[in-house]
Amino acid sequence: MKGLLRLLRPHRARLLGGVACLLLLAATSAAYAYLTGPLLQVLLTGGRQGGGYLPLPRLWLGNTDASAVLVGMAIALCGLALLKGLAHLGQALLLEGTAERIGHRLRVEVYDHLVRLPLGWYRRSGVGDLLTRLLDDVQRVQEAAVAAPIALAREGLAALALLGVALVMSPALTLAAALALPLVGLVIALLSRGVKRAARGRQRHMAALADRATVALSAIREVKSSGAEPREVAALAREGREALRWSWRRIALRAVAPLANEVMAAAALGLTLVYAGAQIASGALAAERFVSFFAALLMLYRPVKALGQAVHVIASGAASVERVVVLLQQPREAPSEGTLPPLGRAFELRGVCFTYEGSARAAIRDVDLSLDVGAVVALAGPSGAGKSTLVSVACGLERPGAGALLWDGEAITDRPPGELRARVALVPQQPLVLPASLGENLRYGAPTAGEEQLREALSAVGLDELLARLGGLDAVLGPRDGQGVSVGEAQRLAVARALLRGVRVLVLDEPSSALDAGSERRLVELLGRLRRDHAILVVAHSPALIAAADRVVWLREGRIAPDVDLGDEAESPALPGGGARSAACAGRPTELAPILAPPRGAAG
Ligand SMILES: Nc1ncnc2c1ncn2[C@@H]1O[C@H](COP(=O)(O)OP(=O)(O)OP(=O)(O)O)[C@@H](O)[C@H]1O
Ligand SMILES: [Mg+2]
Repeated sequence: MKGLLRLLRPHRARLLGGVACLLLLAATSAAYAYLTGPLLQVLLTGGRQGGGYLPLPRLWLGNTDASAVLVGMAIALCGLALLKGLAHLGQALLLEGTAERIGHRLRVEVYDHLVRLPLGWYRRSGVGDLLTRLLDDVQRVQEAAVAAPIALAREGLAALALLGVALVMSPALTLAAALALPLVGLVIALLSRGVKRAARGRQRHMAALADRATVALSAIREVKSSGAEPREVAALAREGREALRWSWRRIALRAVAPLANEVMAAAALGLTLVYAGAQIASGALAAERFVSFFAALLMLYRPVKALGQAVHVIASGAASVERVVVLLQQPREAPSEGTLPPLGRAFELRGVCFTYEGSARAAIRDVDLSLDVGAVVALAGPSGAGKSTLVSVACGLERPGAGALLWDGEAITDRPPGELRARVALVPQQPLVLPASLGENLRYGAPTAGEEQLREALSAVGLDELLARLGGLDAVLGPRDGQGVSVGEAQRLAVARALLRGVRVLVLDEPSSALDAGSERRLVELLGRLRRDHAILVVAHSPALIAAADRVVWLREGRIAPDVDLGDEAESPALPGGGARSAACAGRPTELAPILAPPRGAAG
């Protein structure tokens, strides 16, 4: 709530202006009701009677004829209508426009928070669910927390003004009519609880639907190759049907409200009419007063109905408010202060453990690893051994559950994760290629890099050819209108990005598994060139990459294997020959390891 008030603050002036328009709008509605009685009276009696409680026409009535009074009233009505229209326009521009702006601001803030949450949060919630919160839920919050309260204020003020007219005309009749009000309130309150529950159910299933669709659409190649299109559609339809069930419930509940309220309103009206008839007959109530009262009562119906609807919008939005608030309450990662200097000598992991939440077993345990500037370390091991987990910890994406990270000997385990991330570059298996120009892709981590630097970086990673083929740094890459790049090129692009950031620790997660022999050879050559002033960790299965490393660390069931068990040859990668093999797996630097030996695949 506090956050919402903060969002409202910059719009104070507009909101105040809007409320002034609302007051004017309510006053004009009341004036319509107020004028109806005398107007009818003048019309029916040819001006001999009427005006009654209307000061202005009475002044006229003494010395003007009826038609002049009627013309005067017609002009007054036009003025009133103009005023009412302007007030309506003003509140729409000032309040409804502001509601949209606040919705936009809220969406930006939710996204700002979302991208700053720790990784664990993204593992627990699917992308679809997060997108639903960002788009659908934020929209509903805007409706429930800004638009509906505006409607409440508008209709509430109008209802109060009309009620005021009714009271002035006949307090007794107004009281009789108001008997129905508590009942109407009760119906609205009861129904809105059901509406909120239904809205919650719908949002849950819509999020699941979005999750399923995002997973399938991101892996559309596999979906097609498995011929699974019908199954995906069926899965989506299943979630959609559940959402539909809740939607129906919500619609039905919301629609029951007018039914109940209308019957009650009609009953109250009937009662009032009977009572009014008796009062008029006994002369206790002037007919023109009754007409004004009745007009006010009839005009009350619309705002009261709208009030009920606004209450239900707020009730349906409450489920979304919860979903957005839960997100906003998650603690963000601490912001980086940017005080970690570039690596001088070595980045060490000491006794590092990491356990995924909800998992009983540590994914990595007691890992000691030193990444030294000037050396390439290959990380090998069977699937599920914990290589990617270790990479995440080394890149500062995950915090170690236990153990220490040492940066040139200084413990940095408790520093904000952004510090380490700023100094370590990750090159994933499928690096990010933005649907943007080549230049923008390169500047992703180094927005201020000059054109010359970009060309140098491309040249350093051997992508001059790509630059020539694309025809310049402004060429657009990416899936829609852009030109494609291969996985190998994308990886070298990611390395170029890292070079532009000036980081001295490079971490590559299985870079060669999607590469052909030629691309792999180029990658090996690149690592050879970079190793002089970088510390490099590369998760590798391929003999070529392993042969290129100064040291091979073998990970099994989350631990660094003290030595390779040659009996396990079947599950271990084919290591390059002879002495390198046992030395390589000892987890210690070795002078024997063949540096930048040409990969076997490429040699023949
Ligand atoms: N999000 C997760 N939640 C729970 N456990 C996980 C999660 N991700 C990985 N694990 C578990 O952690 C262990 C290590 O996984 P990791 O992805 O690090 O292995 P890996 O060595 O990279 O395997 P691969 O060679 O197949 O990529 C595995 O037992 C895996 O099941
Ligand atoms: Mg992995």
